[in-house]
Amino acid sequence: MTPDARKRLLDGLGLVDWRMRPDRLAAAPTAPADHAPALREPAPPATDPQPDVAPAASAVGEPAAATAAPDHDTQTVAPNPSVDAPAPAAAQAPAEPAQGAAAPAQGSDVSRMDWDELEAWLATRDHRGASRPVFGIGARDADVLIVGEAPGANEDAQGVPFVGRAGKLLDRMLFAIGCSRDTNVYITNICKFRPPNNRDPNADEVAADWPVLERQIELMDPKLVVAVGRVAAQTLLDSTQSLGKLRGTLHRYPRRELDVLVTYHPAFLLRSPGQKAKAWADLKQIARRIASA
Ligand code: URA
Repeated sequence: MTPDARKRLLDGLGLVDWRMRPDRLAAAPTAPADHAPALREPAPPATDPQPDVAPAASAVGEPAAATAAPDHDTQTVAPNPSVDAPAPAAAQAPAEPAQGAAAPAQGSDVSRMDWDELEAWLATRDHRGASRPVFGIGARDADVLIVGEAPGANEDAQGVPFVGRAGKLLDRMLFAIGCSRDTNVYITNICKFRPPNNRDPNADEVAADWPVLERQIELMDPKLVVAVGRVAAQTLLDSTQSLGKLRGTLHRYPRRELDVLVTYHPAFLLRSPGQKAKAWADLKQIARRIASA
């Protein structure tokens, strides 16, 4: 982003110039990378401070991609599983390492693993029909952690979270507030394996993967977690409230000193462009929270 574009963006947000914590900012974010060329959409003009999330967004009426994760923001499904429940034994006693996987720490205790051990350990877990684990991507020392729900088909194919159309919208939203997975946010999901047929993850799946997310949060020690979509929000906040009730205010993560902001899932925004104004308000709140970190 040029200095002029940045100034216009910040003026629009009512902010003075701000930066991510200098010790954590590897480089200024560049325009979102193309993570799924076949699904590429035109990048917004560099001068547009609210790409696709502004009320007058250009993506209005776009059909959902066949491979995108379902809209999890409004569906009525079983209440979220309690993340306070002890992790199932299967989540604590690792299986034999998959062939070719890096060796996980001996006598694995997830809560003591470093990033690489954790990722290697995840690869040894039951894939539950998925092709591969989707561990996460981005700056592991960033102030901001984005948590989605679970990988979809594109993510399952590439092993990277948020690479389909919804992921591209997420990248553009982040770019609008000076954030990028290439520099200053980390992105992961509640569930690390794609649920069959893109269905919502069930309680067992959430419980099985929960120790990994919990350890990622511990290792990262972010200032802000952004929960995108209902499943991520309810799971992280251990709540059964609707997304509409949870979004719009900062919450305190129940298990440590950490703010959680809830916003719409980008797949939902692709289907309900009328909600983009609210998403833009959420983004501005994220920017303000980052500025005060
Ligand atoms: N939806 C999610 O919640 N996560 C992804 O990684 C992709 C789509």
